[in-house]
Amino acid sequence: MSQEENTPLSEALENTLSTVQEDFVRESIMSDSFLDFVEQNTKPIDQLFAYYRCAIMEVETKFNVLDESLSVELDRNPIENITSRVKSVDSLLRKMKRKNIPLTLSAIEENINDIAGVRVICSFPDDIYEIANAFLSQDDITLIARKDYIKEPKLSGYRSLHLIVEVPIFLKNEKRNMKVEVQFRTIAMDFWASLEHKLHYKHDLPPERAKALADELRECAEQIELLDLRMQAVKNEIVTYNEENPKDTSFPGFPLIGE
Ligand code: GTP
Ligand code: MG
Repeated sequence: MSQEENTPLSEALENTLSTVQEDFVRESIMSDSFLDFVEQNTKPIDQLFAYYRCAIMEVETKFNVLDESLSVELDRNPIENITSRVKSVDSLLRKMKRKNIPLTLSAIEENINDIAGVRVICSFPDDIYEIANAFLSQDDITLIARKDYIKEPKLSGYRSLHLIVEVPIFLKNEKRNMKVEVQFRTIAMDFWASLEHKLHYKHDLPPERAKALADELRECAEQIELLDLRMQAVKNEIVTYNEENPKDTSFPGFPLIGE
């Protein structure tokens, strides 16, 4: 919304909405038991979140290293972008409530797998598997769960490879294994997922329109898959051509000193 459009009325509406939202959060999630839990565990909760941030750093470094090392072999960077986030307390609480998880730190660590999240955006579908397999073959990475929504897309059309892994972080006096959720996608899959996520206000539509739009989004995802495969085929043709017609990279002229 532009500055001019931000009239006092829309400001008032925004304020009301945010108050309603806060009230909802307070009433539905911030129950007395939760507030007691947070009060009594402020430091351990902060510490746990710091551990998850450390785990993200470890995992991001691994992907940066893989990207750098593979770039020499492939003559291009297979990773376009890496982003990460630690789950907000708000959404952690919603999930705990939804899954009926007891209010203890160990229950959180045990049951919530996506407090630390890393998203790896790759250039081509094949890059996803090459990088994921290289990552999983590292001897300090333990695979907890794998969901391949590229081979088996969700009903919505969503495509990505999800891994839940454990990675060690090294603290002053101990080593701690932390869970991290890693989502691998191509740029095209990410384009679809980002826009589809933004369209979640669609639940207010009449059922038949909602169904039509869901079908439309699923078809868009199918077209995006085809695009990914076409771009990959172009890339493969170039790679094959270059392999069959290697450039003469020998250095012309100058004999090495002492030759
Ligand atoms: P959560 O409890 O939501 O984490 O579900 P889950 O534990 O069953 O995990 P799932 O494998 O469904 O993946 C969860 C994450 O994948 C979400 O937080 C999103 O980032 C992403 N995701 C899954 N399905 C969709 C989808 O249909 N559309 C979009 N845009 N993202 C999705
Ligand atoms: Mg999640």
